[in-house]
Amino acid sequence: MHSKKYLIANWKMNGLKGDLNQISIIDNFIKKKNNLSGLQCIFCLPYTILAIALTNRKLKNIKFGAQDISNQLSDFGPFTGQISSKMLQDLKCKFTIVGHSEKRSNGDNDADISQKIQTASKNHIKVILCVGEGLNDFKSKKSFIKVKRQLNLSLKKNKKFLKNIIIAYEPIWSIGTGIIPNNKYLNNFFYKIKKYLKDEFKTKATVIYGGSVSSNNIDQLKNINLCDGFLIGGASLKSKNFIDIMKKYYS
Ligand code: 13P
Repeated sequence: MHSKKYLIANWKMNGLKGDLNQISIIDNFIKKKNNLSGLQCIFCLPYTILAIALTNRKLKNIKFGAQDISNQLSDFGPFTGQISSKMLQDLKCKFTIVGHSEKRSNGDNDADISQKIQTASKNHIKVILCVGEGLNDFKSKKSFIKVKRQLNLSLKKNKKFLKNIIIAYEPIWSIGTGIIPNNKYLNNFFYKIKKYLKDEFKTKATVIYGGSVSSNNIDQLKNINLCDGFLIGGASLKSKNFIDIMKKYYS
């Protein structure tokens, strides 16, 4: 495995200060292994512990990101509860997730997501853009129509930032359920996403998969040729589970 591969953890609303020791264990594991070539390991943490992780100089092998940012285009202002990309940049944070289905179901629409990409990119923060369809769309074979629409609406005003964006395909029906699509379906889906982005946006996109990734299914998922990595929720919370995934991904 030579090209760049991403293992991105999304801790969601999990993690106290003490849990950062799980990340130290993973950092040590990466340091000692010499066969993890091309691995980009990124932990997207709650803001409370993100700031602490970013100032820990011992964590040299892991990068950190936020799980969301404000959609406001201004850096500061009367927006209670929001965190701007300028604030993340101030912490030297280099990544943020945008458009996660758990945020979309909480009110984020495609216009918000487009603005979030714009403000993140202006402040040199790379975006992990989540797209994915619900179960009804999957059952009625509308998955790609749905995802294509999400991609188009989030990216059309952000064409100049495309190199800053990692696409994470996360079928909503797979998140936290233990159910994953089969490889044939995923390979075909990744092909369609990459072709669409090449044809319409003239970009060679990095596309990763998220939804119930674990050490039990990584042996299967790693055979999806067009997949550039994984976005991992529950199985990223404990170092043992995450290290098991890394070991199998690189075996
Ligand atoms: P799970 O790995 O827990 O299914 O979560 C996936 C996800 O939503 C990552 O962003």
